[in-house]
Amino acid sequence: MAQNGNIVISTRNLAKDLPLGKTVVHALRGVDMDIYAGEIVGIVGPSGSGKSTLLGLIGGLDQPTSGTIMIDGVDISRMNEDQLTEIRNEKIGFIFQFFNLIPTLTALENVALPIQFARKPRFNPEKRAKELLEGLGLGDRMRHRPSELSGGQQQRVAIARALANDPPLLLADEPTGNLDQESGVMVLQALEDVRQRSGTTVVIVTHDHDLAQRSDRVLTLVDGQLAHSTVNA
Ligand SMILES: Nc1ncnc2c1ncn2[C@@H]1O[C@H](COP(=O)(O)OP(=O)(O)O)[C@@H](O)[C@H]1O
Ligand SMILES: [Mg+2]
Repeated sequence: MAQNGNIVISTRNLAKDLPLGKTVVHALRGVDMDIYAGEIVGIVGPSGSGKSTLLGLIGGLDQPTSGTIMIDGVDISRMNEDQLTEIRNEKIGFIFQFFNLIPTLTALENVALPIQFARKPRFNPEKRAKELLEGLGLGDRMRHRPSELSGGQQQRVAIARALANDPPLLLADEPTGNLDQESGVMVLQALEDVRQRSGTTVVIVTHDHDLAQRSDRVLTLVDGQLAHSTVNA
């Protein structure tokens, strides 16, 4: 499945400088990479190597210092904040280490929210949220609030939320970093199911070797540069 389809993410000579006091951190120093439709790609590397910076740029959360980023055939590298917001809403689902669910809302309401906020909603919010939560094994937890769910369940709610508007691209930064191993395996399984069902492309930043080994391909960042790309069996 890997690398047969279209390129969904492409970066060329991507660089990001971050100001640090009176100096500058070269967080990314010329990254060239292509990610194909339907791939699950792991991004690994030492702490501080630029993984989160790279994911944020791909996801339109930030703008590069130089270089280009193509998402789904569109160059987003010079877009302004409003244009990036639109790209994020249409094309990208994010999953974070600490779930970032809204504590006062139920699982169902958390997942329905991005559909209600979509500029051109494609789904009935409640119906879509129910289907997604059921698909992630949370059919009996829909009326629970985040504090009434385990970490693994909260992360699956966050996956459902990220999928709410059916984005072609799912980006996850350390999605199992705050979970025990068993919950981590379930979360990865959920991401594999999503790819299987919807053809979603999934990029996962992770420290977890097992998780990286189960992705189709592992990209290793060292010091803001791509050190190697390994295809898994
Ligand atoms: N907001 C920031 N301001 C200044 N430097 C930053 C900021 N965020 C990250 N950095 C620096 O950029 C580099 C890359 O960080 P990051 O992308 O978070 O790495 P990783 O996710 O691989 O741990 C590190 O040297 C980090 O200290
Ligand atoms: Mg990080």
